[in-house]
Amino acid sequence: MVQKVAIITGGNSGIGYALADHLLTLFGSKNQSFLLCLACRNLSKAKVASDKLLLTHPGADISIVQLDTSNTASVKQAALEISTKFQQINWLFLNAGQLPPSSVNWKGFFPFTFTNIRHVFATGGRVLRQNDSIMDNGLSSVFATNVLGHYALIRELESLISTQNIPCHCIWTSSRSASVALPINIDNIQHFGGERAYENSKQLIDIISIKLNEHTNVFSNTACPGLVMTELTNKILPKYFWYLVWPLLFILRAFISSSLVISPVLGAYSLFWLSRQNPIELDANAKYLSCSRPLGSPRLELQKMEYKIDKVRVMEEIDKLYKIHFKP
Ligand SMILES: NC(=O)c1ccc[n+]([C@@H]2O[C@H](COP(=O)([O-])OP(=O)(O)OC[C@H]3O[C@@H](n4cnc5c(N)ncnc54)[C@H](OP(=O)(O)O)[C@@H]3O)[C@@H](O)[C@H]2O)c1
Repeated sequence: MVQKVAIITGGNSGIGYALADHLLTLFGSKNQSFLLCLACRNLSKAKVASDKLLLTHPGADISIVQLDTSNTASVKQAALEISTKFQQINWLFLNAGQLPPSSVNWKGFFPFTFTNIRHVFATGGRVLRQNDSIMDNGLSSVFATNVLGHYALIRELESLISTQNIPCHCIWTSSRSASVALPINIDNIQHFGGERAYENSKQLIDIISIKLNEHTNVFSNTACPGLVMTELTNKILPKYFWYLVWPLLFILRAFISSSLVISPVLGAYSLFWLSRQNPIELDANAKYLSCSRPLGSPRLELQKMEYKIDKVRVMEEIDKLYKIHFKP
């Protein structure tokens, strides 16, 4: 029997880990027709995550591949390993991501939060100052990690994906914040010198996803988990701060913002939901949003992705960088 294979980048933590747990619950432990692959940059963290998943899903088939999406050699090696290990990929979750070192713009936070609190919890809009860095190879760290590494992974897996009997469903962890970001500057696609590298990277992800649907044997969709307490949010403000405001977050979720999802299990809901649909019936131009009902049960919303930018040019720019760094 051919195994169904799901690969999750950054599956060791936060939303990726919760998604892994959802998938194993769906397919059931000891179900040898399902294989989960955690593609993670840190092998010991991946092993800890795999052991933890095996405690709740004994007998599950979990494989680990080392993948640092910001590192060219690592992406190439991971693609090679995946192509050797698996006959097909049913779901490719492009979830790994980083927010650059950020600080809260307190000066802007209070006036803006009081005038548009829903918007702040949905998108983080204007309250973060991001300091992206440039890597030795000249790429922006956020762009390389969130965008180029994932795009390259798909390109490097092309021969496997194009020859397999079933289509591969790519599911990206994007963000609601992408839609409110400044429009992408085609001449500065990596957002050098800007303060919104994260939102810029998520817009690029959305555009890649839309365009991927033009390829045969691939379906692609994007999802947003909502505001979820993970290692990513702990890098904005320390963990203890989030614990201190925990009761307030639940009150805000109940009365003000359904995008304040809080738990990774709820955050992973849209990604998990997408994986259970027939991809032909999904809207490639919509983002699927995890939302919370007031008492914390999950629900889904759709947000149209109406990017006015020339998507063909965006893809050309990304592809140019892929060729420079991966096919020199
Ligand atoms: N939390 C939110 O509120 C929120 C909202 C919207 C979108 N998202 C998106 O959700 C996704 C998952 O984030 P999370 O909130 O679950 O945070 P998280 O717990 O920090 O998980 C991020 C994952 O990405 C991995 N990662 C980071 N850089 C990597 C690299 N260069 N190569 C490979 N893996 C890398 C991390 O690995 P390590 O464990 O080794 O660091 C970790 O496994 C991200 O794409 C994020 O942008 C999150």
